[in-house]
Amino acid sequence: MVITFVGHGYVGLVSACVFAKFGNTVYILGHTKEKIDRLKTSDPIIYEPGLKELLEDNLKKKRIIPTLDYKSSVSRSDIVFIAVGTPPKNNGEADLTTVFEVAKNIAQNLKRGFTVVSCKSTVPVGTNQKIEQLLKKNKVKDAEFAVASCPEFLREGSAIYDTLNADRVVVGSDSEKAIDLLLKLHEPIPGKRVVTDLASAELIKYTSNAMLATKISFANLIAFYCEKTGADVEKVLDAVGLDKRIGRIFMDPGLGYGGSCLPKDVKALRTIGANLAVDTIFLDAVEKVNSLAKNNFIARILKTVKDKNVAIWGLSFKPNTDDVREAPAIYIINALLQNNFSLHVYDSAALGNIKKIFGGKLRYAKNPYDAVSKTSALLILTEWDEFKQINLKQIKTKMLNPVIFDGRNIYDPHVMKSLGFTYYSIGRPSVK
Ligand code: UGA
Repeated sequence: MVITFVGHGYVGLVSACVFAKFGNTVYILGHTKEKIDRLKTSDPIIYEPGLKELLEDNLKKKRIIPTLDYKSSVSRSDIVFIAVGTPPKNNGEADLTTVFEVAKNIAQNLKRGFTVVSCKSTVPVGTNQKIEQLLKKNKVKDAEFAVASCPEFLREGSAIYDTLNADRVVVGSDSEKAIDLLLKLHEPIPGKRVVTDLASAELIKYTSNAMLATKISFANLIAFYCEKTGADVEKVLDAVGLDKRIGRIFMDPGLGYGGSCLPKDVKALRTIGANLAVDTIFLDAVEKVNSLAKNNFIARILKTVKDKNVAIWGLSFKPNTDDVREAPAIYIINALLQNNFSLHVYDSAALGNIKKIFGGKLRYAKNPYDAVSKTSALLILTEWDEFKQINLKQIKTKMLNPVIFDGRNIYDPHVMKSLGFTYYSIGRPSVK
């Protein structure tokens, strides 16, 4: 098949590369020349494990064509995916300006035969109907089309793996022809097929992300109880998770959920609820606990650390990505800078992106050992593997005080005690 992805962020570029790997011809349509030129030279722009190699291979085999031109891409395509950003507006609502602009451009460049226009961007219920109206109004004569919602469930840091090992493929549409074509395209991808109406498909995506956020906030809430009672949150959740009805996955307590999806989608679902006169009290609480997770961590540091020369490991919102959007690190760094801390920071991939935000306000370390040198405490904000395997004895000799605040529970408290660290973690008794 010939397909076009409008948008080359995590969803657009990763999905495009995977469908190209299956032998399809895939256009990647962008609007910034500099970025399209970078894609043409196998630079994926974003950091995602395995993506550069996959893009390079597809380009070599001429299965991927990065372009700025709607005419040459859309007018040749059987399926056009909209995969552009839907950032939050100030009121939490998803900003759909780009989605609608793109839909208009697609309409003006559809081919004469039949095309499926499918939205992969996360959009509120009713958006695909609006896309349909826009396409009808602006389409070229003789073009036939059907809209479909085909939400994406990949995670940053494991995006290619997730796409190739999907739990489900969701296709929402009123058109059998569109459903058949989309199912055919997804044939090599495993997982259950969920064929449904447009509104349900749109809501499935928000519900999934809101449920994931809920699991994380619930784990953090239980960590608060553990910190007050001396219980160990990992033991509590391990035991609770053995109940198959509950499960343990995606319930790791820490500094709350960040990134470009969960915070945005919980906010958007709250706004959707308010507009529909659905009580949002439950989602309000999910957000509140997410903020508390960071604020409690900060409060403990402010209360405990006297010498304000501190190291930070982990700046990205999760491991295996350089993405710092809504990263807990940004919030925590801002709070500590306001309290006159001097911060020596290190991350395995996100230093460049953090530098763009904080510039000269931070000191940047080349490696984790360099970061802790002559500092009085170390804060761990992202659970990169590099930190799990570090030589802790060496770390101890470099620090002024062997004190660690671990926001991701990556070490065993007993081991830390035996090594002579003062070790604070989330929802577990501290050791000295
Ligand atoms: C999330 C969803 O997991 C994907 O299914 C979805 O497709 C994607 O959003 C999207 O809408 O595009 P992502 O934001 O890439 O994926 O990353 P997650 O793995 O969900 O992590 C989000 C945040 O939750 C991170 O800050 C992570 O540290 C935190 N987290 C995750 C926890 O604090 N505890 C956990 O147990 C799991």
